[in-house]
Amino acid sequence: LWTWAAAVVVVAAAAAAAAAAGQEKRLLVGMTLVPGAASTGAGKSATPLINPLFLHPRSPGRTLPCSPDSLPKALACLDGSPPAYHLHRGSGAGARGWLLQFEGGGWCNDAPSCAARAGTRRGSTRLMSKLEVFSGVLSNDPARNPDFYNWNRVKLRYCDGGSFAGDSEFRNGSSVIYMRGQRIWDAIIADLLTKGLAKAEKG
Ligand SMILES: *[C@@H]1O[C@H](CO)[C@@H](O)[C@H](O)[C@H]1NC(C)=O
Repeated sequence: LWTWAAAVVVVAAAAAAAAAAGQEKRLLVGMTLVPGAASTGAGKSATPLINPLFLHPRSPGRTLPCSPDSLPKALACLDGSPPAYHLHRGSGAGARGWLLQFEGGGWCNDAPSCAARAGTRRGSTRLMSKLEVFSGVLSNDPARNPDFYNWNRVKLRYCDGGSFAGDSEFRNGSSVIYMRGQRIWDAIIADLLTKGLAKAEKG
């Protein structure tokens, strides 16, 4: 009888927890890959691709040989995968409000540290969660996020290793590392402009 009673208590507790979780339903928002990025196999192959516009960071002006079809890869995360963001659409009075949140995560500082980072979720959208929990200022719950819950809320994924600021590449014959934060920033904003950011009234 004691065992049975204990089991009932456990089940009741689990049900209560499930009910509480239901009230705090998490908002999961899917990843959008940036259009125009890395159309030639980025993220599909571990083989480094060569960019035609590559300029060696330590030898500016020295352009290296290349294959033309790899041009779009100039817009890429450290590992060559396409950049990405998550967007949850606004509605009602917030339909023209836009909140952009940048994912953080420090910098890499040189080829070895950026190469290492390229193999992690900090340097590759291939390795990132494809669903992000939108909480805090990204929440769609008016009680939890009264100021922005019905705005368009965007989380920009951080994969360039240089705070969306760099614009160069490293290549040494065995590795290619893309440091294209500026292009990622420009491409995400350009894409969001077509999705309503151009008509933003609050931001
Ligand atoms: C190229 O650079 C990467 C990253 O620093 C390094 O791991 C690799 O050993 C280098 N390859 C050559 C041939 O120097």
